[in-house]
Formats: sequence, C-alpha cells, structure tokens
Amino acid sequence: MKNVIVGQSGGPTAVINSSLLGVFKTAKDRGADIVYGMVHGIKGLLDKDVVDLSSRIKNDLDMDLLKRTPSSFLGSCRYKLPDIKGHEDVYEKIFKILNELEIFAFFYIGGNDSMDTIMRLTDYGKKINSPIRFVGVPKTIDNDLAITDHTPGYGSAAKYIAATTKEIIRDGLVYDYPVVSVIEVMGRNAGWLTAACALAKGEDCEGVDDIYLPEKVFDVDKFVARMGELLKENRSIVIAVSEGVKSADGRYVCELSDHVDYVDAFGHKQLAGTARFLAGKVAEKYGVKTRAIELSSLQRCAAHIQARIDVTEAFNCGGAGVKAAFEGKTGIVITLKRVSDDPYMCITEVADVHDIANVEKKVPLEWITEDGTNVKPELVHYILPLIQAEITPLWVNGLPRHVRLHAKK
Ligand code: F6P
Repeated sequence: MKNVIVGQSGGPTAVINSSLLGVFKTAKDRGADIVYGMVHGIKGLLDKDVVDLSSRIKNDLDMDLLKRTPSSFLGSCRYKLPDIKGHEDVYEKIFKILNELEIFAFFYIGGNDSMDTIMRLTDYGKKINSPIRFVGVPKTIDNDLAITDHTPGYGSAAKYIAATTKEIIRDGLVYDYPVVSVIEVMGRNAGWLTAACALAKGEDCEGVDDIYLPEKVFDVDKFVARMGELLKENRSIVIAVSEGVKSADGRYVCELSDHVDYVDAFGHKQLAGTARFLAGKVAEKYGVKTRAIELSSLQRCAAHIQARIDVTEAFNCGGAGVKAAFEGKTGIVITLKRVSDDPYMCITEVADVHDIANVEKKVPLEWITEDGTNVKPELVHYILPLIQAEITPLWVNGLPRHVRLHAKK
C-alpha cells in the first residue's frame, strides 16, 4: 500500500484548498492508493479522525468547486506538538496511527507554526528510523514565511484588501463633512498584508493617506496629532493600520483598549481592536465622524476575488510537495522563487523545515518610509504581480457555490 495523508493547519486562506487539491491530484496521478485527509489537522489525527479524500473529491466538478471554496476544507487547528523529550508517548501514538494507516508520506499545509509540526515529526521520525516522509506545503495570508518569495494565500488576501480599500475610499468621499476611516488589517507582526492597501492608489483612486506597519514603532500621540494635520486639508481620511502595531514599550496598540485577550497554543494573542481604539482617540480629540473597519476574517476567506496566480501557485506547491516526497525527500518545505518580474514567474524549490519553522519574515525596513507613515514603491512592485488575474466563482442562485466536508455540528 502506498497511502499518503494531508492536513491543513493554522488560519485559513482563500486558496488553501487549491493546495489540498494539488496534493490529492498529484498523489493520485503518481499512484498513491489512499489519500487520507486529517480532520482538524494533527489534533484530529491524534483522535484518528481521518477521511478518504476520494470519497469527497469524485469528479472534475468537485475539484473545480474545491479550489474555489475558501477556508480549510478539512478543518484546521492551532495545536502545538509538545517537545519530544518527555512526551514520547504523543509521538509514539502519532506514528502508531500513521503506521496503521500505512502512510508513507505526510503533508501539512500551513504557516510557520504549522511547520513546527513538520519539524518535530521529522526529528522524531529520524530518531526511530521511520521511512515516513514529512513535507510542508506553505500557506498563510500573513506572508511571513522565511525563504519563500511569498506564500500562497497572500496574493488573494492582498487583492481583496486592495479592492476593498478602493471601495472604502470612494465611500469616504461621499459626504461634505470630514470622516476618518481606519482600516485594520491582519498579519500579526509582519506588515505585508497591510502594505497591500497601497495598491488602491491609481488613476481612478486617491489612495490611503497613511499606512502603518508593525515593523515600525507606533506612537499613538503622534498618530492623533497627524490626524489633526490631515483634517485641516482633507474631507475624507483613510488610514491603513496593521493589527500588530506596537507602542515603544512593546505593547500591541490593541492591548491599550479594554477588550479581553485570547491567547492560542502558540502563545499568540488575539489581535483585534486596533482600529476601534485609534478611531476612538481621533473622535475624542477632534469630534469628527470616524469609522473603525476591521477586515478580520473577510480578508482571508474572500474566494469570490481569488487571484488566479495565487490559485495556480497554491496548487503547484501542493503538487511539488508530493513530487518531492515521492522522490524521497523529507523534512522539507516547498518554497517559491521569483525568477522573473516581467513577465512575472515563480518556480518551486525546497528548503529545510528547520530554517522555516517558527521564523517570522518581516517587511524590510528599506521598503517603508523613514517616518513610518507609508510604504515605498518597491513594496508595491513586489506585491502587484501576486494579485493578478481572476477565477470566476461557480455562481448558483446568485451566490458562489462552495463544498464542505460536514454540515455544522
Ligand atoms: O493565520 C494568520 C492570521 O490570519 C493572522 O493574521 C491573525 O492574527 C490570525 O491568523 C488570527 O487567527 P485566528 O483565526 O486564530 O483568530
């Protein structure tokens, strides 16, 4: 038996199912007998909660729908495997289940936290001389994975963010009195996604006034004073701010508000409320109308505006992962290498998982303006190819059609 297993982990994206399809289809094409899917990632695997993907992906229509369906088809988890030392029982259990399922290759589609899982399983597998191959398939809207040029999921999220920003800018200009809109964008400690708001600017759009990335220290008082300056000359002000901006003392700006903190298994605080906090400060000081616009999960599940290039690359990364495993590679992550900008072209390569797990790739400071209120053209130039072209949803009854593994329990 030549069975493989695939899981999805961490925050979802609009194209993560395209990577799932890339793994499924390529594994089948290369002669895999059963392609298992882990339900809710490694956490589900520990409960032996797996599905035979062939029972869910039966024909071309299923495949077309799967790649157009946002979020993780198999369900996800934010589950950190414990240190091997002292927790061998957990690893024994996982390998026992994998052996029972006769797995020879294990694929995990995820970001830098999820690659920690691939790294630990690789290390334990080596320790016990297991022949199972472990391969990471990159994914995250945050685009903060090391080595790879970018991550699948980022382009579609950036496309949604830029398009939505254009719409917010038009909306903001409708009245004859001032409105300050603060758009809060995901991305944790990396500003790649927030930078996508810069793409709104063009011959038909004024663009945002300021962009604040977490790579630079954020000063709330300076921000409020700057809004005062902008209000002297503008009727509508639109600001893009990352959920991860921090003040000089290292505290997230969203922590300055009174919301309750949730912390996940990787120790990440839930970052939300930055826009609300800042908009409140501006309203309090200047008595103007403000809007706090938290893009939240909208930006990572907007499959109705997938970037075609992103869908293709997500699929290719899944396929490249399978190819690498079938060629005997293990302990690796598929990466994208930009070989040309004009025309844009990326190829897949492989990197050692130890160089990627738990590493956060930030926006280079030379791509941010000195005063930290905007991004430079180099950053726009980097993002632009990644949002190109579209995939049309399959519309049913006026809405995009999706597939789901289970109806909600
Ligand atoms: O997956 C990364 C991410 O999208 C971050 O940008 C964001 O901070 C986080 O997920 C939110 O995750 P959750 O769904 O666990 O709240």
